[in-house]
Amino acid sequence: MTRLSVNINKVATLRNARGGNLPDVEKFAHDCERFGAEGITVHPRPDERHITRADVYALKELVTTEFNIEGNPEPAFMDLVLAVKPAQVTLVPDSREQLTSNHGWDTKAHFAKLAAIIQRFKNAGIRVSVFVDADPEMVEYAAKAGADRVELYTGPYAEIYAQDPQRALNMYRPAAEKARELKLGLNAGHDLNLHNLKDFAEAFPWLDEVSIGHALIADALYLGIEETIKQYKYALSNSN
Ligand code: PXP
Repeated sequence: MTRLSVNINKVATLRNARGGNLPDVEKFAHDCERFGAEGITVHPRPDERHITRADVYALKELVTTEFNIEGNPEPAFMDLVLAVKPAQVTLVPDSREQLTSNHGWDTKAHFAKLAAIIQRFKNAGIRVSVFVDADPEMVEYAAKAGADRVELYTGPYAEIYAQDPQRALNMYRPAAEKARELKLGLNAGHDLNLHNLKDFAEAFPWLDEVSIGHALIADALYLGIEETIKQYKYALSNSN
């Protein structure tokens, strides 16, 4: 079954708004796992506007499921990931000022750089996933650069799904099939929610993992985090 990794950035944003430790990010991560999450994702930014470097070290000690760290592989990020050694690192080409990631890598244009970075992480025993748009050529060059997985950027999927679900799924098919053909693991993330997740997971039953933050945390305001995780896992339950 497709695994659910909960992105807990937003919980840190809420905590940082007051400077204390409420809500407790580490406890929240632990509770997500207790309620069935199969992974915890964080995206530490250089300005520490949500997840801090200290959070990353603390989470490494307590996460018992898959710990996934996302980010742009600038030197400070690489040093942090290599020191912490999570199960997975997801390489994202976001700039410092970007509100959130909004496109994948051009894996062809950045091939040599990515290949060198991927090798460093793999030598440290860390699985490497590369965030790409739903373009089979980008998937192909991620594989050539040595990635273990790709994460398909699902922002456009979510936007189009709201008008035309079938067209949205068809847009992602060539890239998802290319990953399967190349025996690359397949992750997906961005703007997935309780409305659009089930169809995506059912269309691509070889999908290994989704990482979901914004909508899931917003749903938890109404449903509570235990029920929310249950509903997201239910949406994934027919995936394979
Ligand atoms: N995947 C990547 C690479 C991301 O940058 C983000 C946002 O931090 C997500 C997944 C999760 O997106 P959302 O918060 O929209 O669920």
